[in-house]
Amino acid sequence: MRKKVTVIGAGNVGASCAVRLADKGLADIVVVDILEGVPTGKALDILQSCPIQGVDVNCVGGNDYEATANSDIVIVTAGFPRKPGMSRDDLLWANYDIVKSTVEQAVKYSPNAILIVVTNPLDAMCHVAYKVSGFPKNRVMGMAGILDTTRFRTFVAQELNVSMKDVTALVLGGHGDTMVPLVRYSSVGGIPLTDLLDQETLDRIVKRTRDGGAEIVRYLKTGSAYYAPSAATVEMVDAILNDRKRVLPCSAYLEGEYGISGLFVGVPVKLGAQGIEKIYELKLTEEELAALHKSAAAVRELVEVMRPKLEAAATA
Ligand code: APR
Repeated sequence: MRKKVTVIGAGNVGASCAVRLADKGLADIVVVDILEGVPTGKALDILQSCPIQGVDVNCVGGNDYEATANSDIVIVTAGFPRKPGMSRDDLLWANYDIVKSTVEQAVKYSPNAILIVVTNPLDAMCHVAYKVSGFPKNRVMGMAGILDTTRFRTFVAQELNVSMKDVTALVLGGHGDTMVPLVRYSSVGGIPLTDLLDQETLDRIVKRTRDGGAEIVRYLKTGSAYYAPSAATVEMVDAILNDRKRVLPCSAYLEGEYGISGLFVGVPVKLGAQGIEKIYELKLTEEELAALHKSAAAVRELVEVMRPKLEAAATA
């Protein structure tokens, strides 16, 4: 039987995820949105691309969750994107309600699914999904690290005029201004990045990576990035559905790793059929660890703001 993936939100990120899933023939796809007609129309359009792509998957869209029943994976992209001048954190309250209600409905129909959260502010929204779903921590995760890393890899490949494929990198921390690109763990065809680029260039690339989302928002004006975010999300889906045991940076619930507890933060994980099968704890320098803790503190601030509402929801 084919696997099934639900995409909540038929906007830019959601629809791009659905297209990429269909193109790869990874699973049957159900797209859900509150807008009338839009998820149905987009899903039908995607379905009609399948003969050309040579893939046999079904793709349907609608407003209710019945069609999503027994999904293997639920991707949450519903919510507002940021506009120029906004930080991801500015979306907190607008997206809290959306993530809470969509996850509540989705998990009723798919109690064994793995949740991949994409809605921002990412790490805080993972927390909402985790609390609302009551799922074990291996089945709730956020897409951010792969996106931040692919931006870093792109800029490095451009700088050195080498294949994008040969650049590996690692970005830790929350998906925000405090993310921690780990230059020490980055390489090009196995050659440490620090042997190839001087400090000034590295600093410039790190800064551009950190501002990577905002750079695109400034160009688009009415929304945020979706092509790279959807590619990153589908890489996670592929790792899980095919039990690839990929080692990728994802937002994961930490319980003491890196000295952080009770928070979703971006860390390297092993991604397979069980979801997050392992969290890797790297030996960080004092400086790197301090930067990671600073990033975690920014996530904690948002979680503390939400806590009264989350606790009230949990006892309701
Ligand atoms: N249920 C289902 N869908 C909803 C709900 C809801 N309660 N509320 C909003 N949506 C839908 C909107 O109707 C819209 O189609 O979510 C979609 C969001 O699409 P876009 O506005 O195009 O936003 P997008 O660029 O896809 O970003 C979505 O992902 O990367 C993050 O920061 C980004 O938080 C944002 C999210």
